[in-house]
Amino acid sequence: MNIATHPFDALMDITLRPAAVFVRGEGSYLWDDTGKRYLDFIQGWAVNCLGHSPPAIADALAAQSKLLLTPSPAFYNGPSLELAKALTDRSCFDQVFFANSGAEANEGAIKLARKYGALHKRGAYEIISFAGGFHGRTLATMSASGKKAFEPLFEPKVAGFPKAQLNDLASVKRLINDSTIAVMLEPIQGEAGVWPATDQFLRELRELTKAHGLLLIVDEIQTGMGRTGKLFHYEHADIEPDIMTLGKGIGGGVPLAALLATSAASCFEHGDQGGTFNGNPLMCAAGLAVLREVGAPDFLKSVAATGLYLESELQRLSARHGLGEVRGRGLLQALDLRHPIAASIVAQAFADGVLLNAPQPDALRFMPALNVRREEIAGMIDALDAILGKLGAARRVA
Ligand SMILES: Cc1ncc(COP(=O)(O)O)c(C=O)c1O
Repeated sequence: MNIATHPFDALMDITLRPAAVFVRGEGSYLWDDTGKRYLDFIQGWAVNCLGHSPPAIADALAAQSKLLLTPSPAFYNGPSLELAKALTDRSCFDQVFFANSGAEANEGAIKLARKYGALHKRGAYEIISFAGGFHGRTLATMSASGKKAFEPLFEPKVAGFPKAQLNDLASVKRLINDSTIAVMLEPIQGEAGVWPATDQFLRELRELTKAHGLLLIVDEIQTGMGRTGKLFHYEHADIEPDIMTLGKGIGGGVPLAALLATSAASCFEHGDQGGTFNGNPLMCAAGLAVLREVGAPDFLKSVAATGLYLESELQRLSARHGLGEVRGRGLLQALDLRHPIAASIVAQAFADGVLLNAPQPDALRFMPALNVRREEIAGMIDALDAILGKLGAARRVA
């Protein structure tokens, strides 16, 4: 692979990528153009909930592509109506706006909260978000994010996103004032290294926001669509938020996202929100195929059971190598490495044909397909065990 066979330079260089070109995927495996096979525990960043190129999605896309691609967002289409109805039937929300990416869904959530503030709270516009949070890469969602690396970028930021500390209710209370309209959080901070909000904190946040007439926005772009063993993470805490965003898994590999709101919070008027591809039937057909499979009770039970297996295997590995805690829920887990060795582990795993992610220098994140097999988890653990063994031996020698 080189510049002659692949014109790498024609793409903007927005991140460091290994010099491999992927050509095919099936289930938990990816193949590059040399025929090398990789066991995938990244799955497009927690996107491919049914694994690579699942027949259910491929068939739905093929069938829909022969019927209708895009009539125009100014007209109704069947799959978007059907998917919106299915999502509202399965959640505490009443209405849906479809988007093409998580950031766009969150941008919509921010606009919806500001609209609500304009209509019902004398123009209140501040949205309390959290240190360490990640909500996307548009200007407003970068401003809502609490990612340190974003702080110096693209100044001036969009105003109105004071930051509280996760699992610290007093830090939220301190930020509430007459300009506050909402609190926005990821139930598990994924990009920060898989840091869960406790169920207790989520319940207290719900009570606090209700008491102050504030909207509670959950960003379930990573935790939603079965990732944690329930269809939506907020169900674990037994709360009903006002607004939720979904992305990643909702399309199972195609660009689809959604903004959901209760009827009280759903206050867009004509002209406030829209977009050329929003709710196009092709992507919504994929979303319906995903929801049909992931939403089945047996499927969600199996995600919870497989998640416990992954967690216990990671705990055994951690104990064997003197590493730190395992944290997360369902099939979103992190292993604390106690040392900044994550990048070298990821690089060695890649060479060994295993795809892992390091959200932080001292943590690995695991986000396999929701239908990952136990033997695939065992294969990943064996590979990681061998790498950690070699690294440990190297450190002892040094
Ligand atoms: C919690 C969360 N919110 C928002 C986003 C942004 O989604 P997208 O990359 O589809 O814009 C991500 C992506 O990683 C995410 O994990």
